[in-house]
Amino acid sequence: MAQTPQAKYRKDYTQPSHTISQIELTFDLFDNETTVTAVSQVKQMKDSTTLVLDGEELKLQALKVNGVDWTEFTQLDAGLEIRQLPAEFELTIVTLVNPEENTALEGLYKSGGAFCTQCEAEGFRRITYYLDRPDVLAKYTTTVIADKAQYPYLLSNGNKLEQGEVEGGRHWVKWEDPHPKPAYLFALVAGDFDVLRDKYVTQSGRNVDLEIFVDKGNLDRANHAMVSLINSMKWDEERFGLEYDLDIYMIVAVDFFNMGAMENKGLNIFNSKFVLANDQTATDTDYLGIEAVIGHEYFHNWTGNRVTCRDWFQLSLKEGLTVFRDQEFSSDLGSRAVNRIGNVRIIRGPQFAEDASPMSHPIRPDKVIEMNNFYTLTVYEKGSEVIRMIHTLLGEAGFQKGMKLYFERHDGTAATCEDFVSAMEDASGVDLKQFRLWYSQSGTPTVSVSSKYDAVAKTYALTVCQSTEPTHDQKEKQALHIPFDVELYTKDGKVMPLQCNGKPVANVLNVTQAEQTFVFENVAEQPIPSLLREFSAPVKLEYDYSDDELVFLMSHATNEFARWDAGQILMAKYIRDNVTRLQQGKGVELNEVVIDAFRGVLLSDSLDPAFVAEMLSLPSHNEVSGWYKCVDVDAVANVLKAFKVILATELEDELSATYQTLRQNEYTISHDAIGKRALRNICLSYLAYTEQGNALAEKQYNEANNMTDTIAAMSAANSAGLPCREAQMADYSNKWKHDGLVMDKWFTLQGCNPAGNALEVIKKTMNHEAFSLKNPNRTRNLIGAFLNSNPVNFHAKSGEGYRFAGEILRELNSSNPQVASRLIDPLLKFRKYDEERQGLIRKELEALKSMDNLARDLFEKVSKALEE
Ligand code: TRP
Ligand code: ZN
Repeated sequence: MAQTPQAKYRKDYTQPSHTISQIELTFDLFDNETTVTAVSQVKQMKDSTTLVLDGEELKLQALKVNGVDWTEFTQLDAGLEIRQLPAEFELTIVTLVNPEENTALEGLYKSGGAFCTQCEAEGFRRITYYLDRPDVLAKYTTTVIADKAQYPYLLSNGNKLEQGEVEGGRHWVKWEDPHPKPAYLFALVAGDFDVLRDKYVTQSGRNVDLEIFVDKGNLDRANHAMVSLINSMKWDEERFGLEYDLDIYMIVAVDFFNMGAMENKGLNIFNSKFVLANDQTATDTDYLGIEAVIGHEYFHNWTGNRVTCRDWFQLSLKEGLTVFRDQEFSSDLGSRAVNRIGNVRIIRGPQFAEDASPMSHPIRPDKVIEMNNFYTLTVYEKGSEVIRMIHTLLGEAGFQKGMKLYFERHDGTAATCEDFVSAMEDASGVDLKQFRLWYSQSGTPTVSVSSKYDAVAKTYALTVCQSTEPTHDQKEKQALHIPFDVELYTKDGKVMPLQCNGKPVANVLNVTQAEQTFVFENVAEQPIPSLLREFSAPVKLEYDYSDDELVFLMSHATNEFARWDAGQILMAKYIRDNVTRLQQGKGVELNEVVIDAFRGVLLSDSLDPAFVAEMLSLPSHNEVSGWYKCVDVDAVANVLKAFKVILATELEDELSATYQTLRQNEYTISHDAIGKRALRNICLSYLAYTEQGNALAEKQYNEANNMTDTIAAMSAANSAGLPCREAQMADYSNKWKHDGLVMDKWFTLQGCNPAGNALEVIKKTMNHEAFSLKNPNRTRNLIGAFLNSNPVNFHAKSGEGYRFAGEILRELNSSNPQVASRLIDPLLKFRKYDEERQGLIRKELEALKSMDNLARDLFEKVSKALEE
């Protein structure tokens, strides 16, 4: 490495030396040499005649101050220092950039035939020299010039002002965004598209043009995105009272994109995965993903754009809050319980794992080397849980009052997490002093509960102990304010009213100390407790439940989430026991009680099918791995597989009956239809392990009239290694080889293929005509699936899985460090494995560390992981 990358610290924040009120940009677009002219109105804020601008990968062509060539400047490693400046001036900067060679997909680049930009977090500095920080807000005017035939659509933020033609077959369009914004929200797109148009009239009667731009020929795949956009606009008005604020809202779908989507003001740019869908190409999961991401980016218009972040350490201010909002949107439109279950799986699985890894950080990080590394499950998903806890503590009405005050105080400015919490506190009167620790403390708290019933005094005592283990980034931990939602049941399933100190109390207890006892009075019999209902805090719960209590809660708890959770806890007990049994050389055993409980779930006709599908889903290998300090990869895989086989064998009749009953002739994407398909396909995933498995998967694949059922059949065949797998994979590839997005599902199946020769096949698959390491989606689906969801092959004792990962990472390090940096995560957790595997993984990390062109993204992660 040329120079050791330097960390930035949250505590070092200082205000910018200058403000920029206005910037006028002109792009003269050419594939390998685009000229960018930036004319900014700059004003000194501090007593400084020197201005230091950020800039990377730029060729400076001209620099003028108030129209005069300026020579008082120095080009820095990653910027430009300009000296002897007046207090107020017009700054003109001309730079050259090379979009065609930009494989990092940050700044201005080409995706397929189109030009597009990605500026968050620090990509604008790859377009021009600028104060590329979120607390510098300017009004943007953008003129885009390009060849008219190749690029008929020229787009940027805000409203279209004028357009015209120039010689040489080129044309131009000028855009103006009336809302001051930080550079990371800037966007430009130039290309040829099909456009889906619609209109929306806001609450107050403003007319908004809605436009979705997709690659030519994909118009029949844009409808669901449009419906989701309209639903988002309506929902934000109804639930949050927030209205859209421009005359046009544009979404462009591109194939080359590092993340899901980007909320650029008035011009969202989306990974095509989160726009394109029809029943032949997309699964139900894809449809729901589109709804969530369209919602997420739309909701950013207020939480992110109207109020933005003061600095990048505050990222969760916009992301945690916007994830909370998109989760609520999906829950209001669909099943609240199923959405909650999905979100909780992410926290308990990958987020807890991140918090236990060398990358552990608070939702508001204190130290960052590469900002792109902090778009994490912790900032987004745990960040959302923190907002949800505030919502739980304040209630919907109090929370909405807080939102209102937050906008009153901070609209049009760059704010901090502290500003948000203060607004919530001031509007509601709820004390959030101790609660603020959730923003600064990393790691996952463990909440251990014990109970004691006193039959004579008729009291029931719950003793709650909380502790957080030291994390890689932070050794000392304090007690947090944990909203702890509980309910007590009588043996015949009645809810007991809660009373403490002679007064009724609410379900949500305020746990604030390391150890605390809550004594409930007038408790007529030994109750069955339902604890951490709705997962009211992102913690690990420990309570010594008996099987009978869990079976009871599975059918009697008043809320669906608690029922599901009881089922998960029951399975977890037996998974742990059986991992130990295998390690002792014994076989896998599953108690009748468990089998009967799941039979009961399957036979119940009062439950929502989508919910039953969740009840029947085992925790993933990754989630189970998270329960252990040192994980036995093979034992966990064997137990999970044995559970599937046992449940399939014991419940075959019930699974078959459900599978046959839930057949639907018509394909619709209503939540009811999605739920039925989910349950039917879960049944198939079990039945795959029975005698009839191959016949069923074969039949379903051949008869499917939609992608959900096609992929479910292939996935069942893939997981269970059924004979029909090969023919299905060949047929699918033959049918879809020209469509990368549709092929991604096939790449994922290859990536997580449990067969012994999977890696060999994956290496060959990299030569498939639809595959390219340059495309992040392809890479994530094939290589990412192998690293994250193929535990037995990836962790093969031969070390070939790790060596393969190392090779890929070294290649991606130069072409696309952001993608490399996301892919590396499973390797960072090497300390969780046995000595032999640890040694093999460490070798790959050290090989990376010694590279002389190691990107900051990988440098940050690799060096943390190797630290003792
Ligand atoms: N703000 C985007 C979102 O959450 C995230 C994002 C999109 C992003 N593209 C990115 C972050 C590239 C870093 C780099 O919706
Ligand atoms: Zn976001």
